[in-house]
Amino acid sequence: MQKIGVVTAGGDAPGMNAAIRSVVRTAIFHGLKVVGIERGYAGLIEGKIHPLNARSVSGIINRGGTVLKTARCEKIKTEEGVKKAADNLKINKIDGLIVIGGDGSFRGASELYNASGIPVVGVPATIDNDVAGTETTIGFDTAVNTALFTIDRIRDTATSHERVFVVEVMGRKRGFLALAVGFAEGAEFILVPELKFDIETICKKLKQGRKKGKTSEIIVMAESAGDSSLIVKEIKRQTGYDVRLTILGHALRGGAPTAQSRILANQFGAHAVELLLKGAKKRMAGVKGEKIVSVDLDYSWQQKKNIDKQLYRLAEILSS
Ligand code: F6P
Repeated sequence: MQKIGVVTAGGDAPGMNAAIRSVVRTAIFHGLKVVGIERGYAGLIEGKIHPLNARSVSGIINRGGTVLKTARCEKIKTEEGVKKAADNLKINKIDGLIVIGGDGSFRGASELYNASGIPVVGVPATIDNDVAGTETTIGFDTAVNTALFTIDRIRDTATSHERVFVVEVMGRKRGFLALAVGFAEGAEFILVPELKFDIETICKKLKQGRKKGKTSEIIVMAESAGDSSLIVKEIKRQTGYDVRLTILGHALRGGAPTAQSRILANQFGAHAVELLLKGAKKRMAGVKGEKIVSVDLDYSWQQKKNIDKQLYRLAEILSS
């Protein structure tokens, strides 16, 4: 192993830059050369590859987004795209590739290994936290805190105007972000795609809550839990309350990474380089308890990570 490549792929996540910095500096510490691949797999297919040194990653540990840029790449899902990307790895004499991204990016990485035989290691970074094999991902904690910062302010209006606020957070297919945000915010209801809910019951409980003295409510929902504007309309219709919708959207993907996201990024990045040096072929860095672990890369995107039902239940109890 003499030269490694690093790429950020899929949606950006706060802490990706810290992970790039960690990969580059750990690799240099071990005497490796490093190249950065721009614009995710799209850049790999186009051959947008350039050398990185310790100074290339100065002053980025605290910055959101990714200095390497990223893209949603459809071509990497095709045989032709994978072949072109694999050829470019070989042309550039890249002996190992570190992919910073989510489950979709790891599926692409797996295909790349199968086509090229060049070792790949994944560094999980997504605000969705929907990667199996790791308890958390780079960017998740930042997105949770960004959401809390905003909902704390929404709560002021909710209280003053005695309103119900439905706050939609990202989560393309999964509700990990909504659950963590709702739990930490003390939301009255949390709507996630993994667990059934019914608007009629929610409305009944809203009315019961008002009878018991509640004057405003926060409902946190994952974008994948349903159509938020329809849900708002229906709650309005069934309760007659003043119900408003706030969609937090991409605001949750940006901003300076929290301490937790940076620490994880530093650890995952270094671990990924060390895995390549130890001869790993297709692995992913993960965290279990307090420990940084290595897991099968295919497990990360083939397995479905379970949502914490106990946490959900506790959120229900605490919001009564
Ligand atoms: O996967 C991260 C994520 O932010 C999802 O929560 C969201 O559904 C999706 O990306 C949005 O993707 P894009 O920015 O490409 O529209």
